[in-house]
Amino acid sequence: MTQDELKKAVGWAALEYVQPGTIVGVGTGSTAAHFIDALGTIKHQIDGAVSSSEASTLKLKALGIPVFDLNEVDSLAIYVDGADEINPQMEMIKGGGAALTREKIIAAVATRFICIADASKEVDVLGHFPLPVEVIPMARSFVARELVKLGGLPEYRQHVITDNGNIILDVHNLRIMEPIALEQAINALPGVVTVGLFAARGADVALIGGPNGVRTIEK
Ligand code: A5P
Repeated sequence: MTQDELKKAVGWAALEYVQPGTIVGVGTGSTAAHFIDALGTIKHQIDGAVSSSEASTLKLKALGIPVFDLNEVDSLAIYVDGADEINPQMEMIKGGGAALTREKIIAAVATRFICIADASKEVDVLGHFPLPVEVIPMARSFVARELVKLGGLPEYRQHVITDNGNIILDVHNLRIMEPIALEQAINALPGVVTVGLFAARGADVALIGGPNGVRTIEK
């Protein structure tokens, strides 16, 4: 199976977690796009979606799925999204698609985070994938210097402006032994909007697609 076929398998497997008559939290990226396709097939059974990016919103609307502002929603049973890396503790690196801030907000609202990923995303230690950090533009150089002090090599993601009007620094050279502590340290830097470490709030369920099918890991 190709990597995209594995992504499709987990995207469709996530339908099992969608409860009829609810609003569904929807992530961003190529794996989440498969989930949106799957969601389109049961659109009459759900009330709609809350979306983590302009790209996902466009796709949801094109399929006829109503998209709600998060402020209109009191609670979400699930948030379904991909990951760039996931470790055995269900902590993740996310933000390869630059949507990390909205992803983190919706994940915080949802009761359960369902991570959908092909098996290439599984790692023992997070950090091989460069860690995305969304930064207010005027703080770019300051935050980059602080990230160097934390042991990373930040790289400005050229030609990318987030949906919130900010820039992304991708931090290389990390081997993240204490994800929650690093998440807190980076979040505390003035000018940082969000770090793409999802550790304090990791996934509750991971659907991992491999050559032998979809494996479910529950916390
Ligand atoms: C988007 O900002 C990311 O957090 C994605 O969830 C992550 O990059 C995984 O993307 P793919 O599903 O495209 O691999």
